[in-house]
Amino acid sequence: MLGAKSVIREMFMYGKERAAQIGYENVFDYSLGNPSVPCPPQFTQAMVDLLQNSEPVALHGYCPSQGDPTFRSAVAQSISHRFGLPYEQKHIFPTTGAAGAIAHAIRAVTTPGDEVITFAPFFPEYIHYVNKTGADLKVVPPDTEDFQINFDALETFLNPSVKAVLINTPNNPTGAVYTARTLERLAGLLTQKSREYGHTIFLVSDEPYREIVFAGAEHPYPAAFYPNTLTCYSFSKSLSLPGERLGYVAVHPQCEEGDILVDVMAQISRGIGHNCPPSIIQLACARCLEVTSDLSVYETNMNLLYNKLTELGFAVKKPGGTFYIFPKALEEDSIAFCERAKQFDLLLVPADSFGCPGYFRMAYCIDTDKVRRSLPALEALAASYR
Ligand SMILES: Cc1ncc(COP(=O)(O)O)c(C=O)c1O
Repeated sequence: MLGAKSVIREMFMYGKERAAQIGYENVFDYSLGNPSVPCPPQFTQAMVDLLQNSEPVALHGYCPSQGDPTFRSAVAQSISHRFGLPYEQKHIFPTTGAAGAIAHAIRAVTTPGDEVITFAPFFPEYIHYVNKTGADLKVVPPDTEDFQINFDALETFLNPSVKAVLINTPNNPTGAVYTARTLERLAGLLTQKSREYGHTIFLVSDEPYREIVFAGAEHPYPAAFYPNTLTCYSFSKSLSLPGERLGYVAVHPQCEEGDILVDVMAQISRGIGHNCPPSIIQLACARCLEVTSDLSVYETNMNLLYNKLTELGFAVKKPGGTFYIFPKALEEDSIAFCERAKQFDLLLVPADSFGCPGYFRMAYCIDTDKVRRSLPALEALAASYR
């Protein structure tokens, strides 16, 4: 366990050490996906109001194992309205962020020894969320053309042991947003294979970046394409609350065994000692479902970086959302490339641990001024390869 440390966290810790030497403002730390904009005032007001005006014993008391009913109903109502699916309170399970959501969803639909498929490049924590359940994560190689799904490769991975497919759109690390065509094709294939194998293949859709989509583009809602979907959401990025640890699993109203899956997750929660995210955060977020932080800075930062990277000759696909960009490194060994970048105080994450060697990730959830000041460092890094 101790050997499997996060490359992202290690780079982030290096950034802290370096900042102590040369000053925070001089380190261009693109390592960690920690939001750089404050939560919206509605969240702060909701917290103040709850603390000042609620009866403290009730406010701070234990909440039911399935989560706070006010939060669950408010989420069901909000996503029903937004996505046109009849979610009810019984379909919503509050969790500690998307991490908790994925860990519960995978446990709910698999048994040890089952296979779960995901697609490279992928968020490296998936290995831990999935493998610690006893299921086995299988990674389909990337479609490096446009970072949608490599369907030819996917077909070779499907077999009767596969019980779930884990997707992430908008995607960390590529910034790609799955198109309706991709989701339709995936739904068609999973329906066909579920019939062939005589059991449901569940879709677990990880969507913490749902609200961060650029140029006014839409993010097609995966569950609308496939009923056997467990949607995993988080308020970490949309409301800039990663430390407050709130997300949820929304079980599609027509999902196979959908009526019991939330109760199953509540039992799983007991077993792993999760036992509900904090009540006050659920209550405050229930009042903020129709707002987000001011997320516009991420698009500004993306455009600055995308323009500079293409000008410098990097092969890079323009992100459709998130706060990540995923260029090809200027040498085959992306670990060596990111090591060299450190000489210019640019902290980049090599994509080997994302299952896509040769690329690197930049998390541009930092001040725009710093993005601008980092551009000469990027120029110098590129020049060092000429
Ligand atoms: C793709 C993806 N999934 C899940 C998570 C976990 O997020 P949370 O803070 O909601 O647990 C992250 C966090 O960065 C992420 O990028």
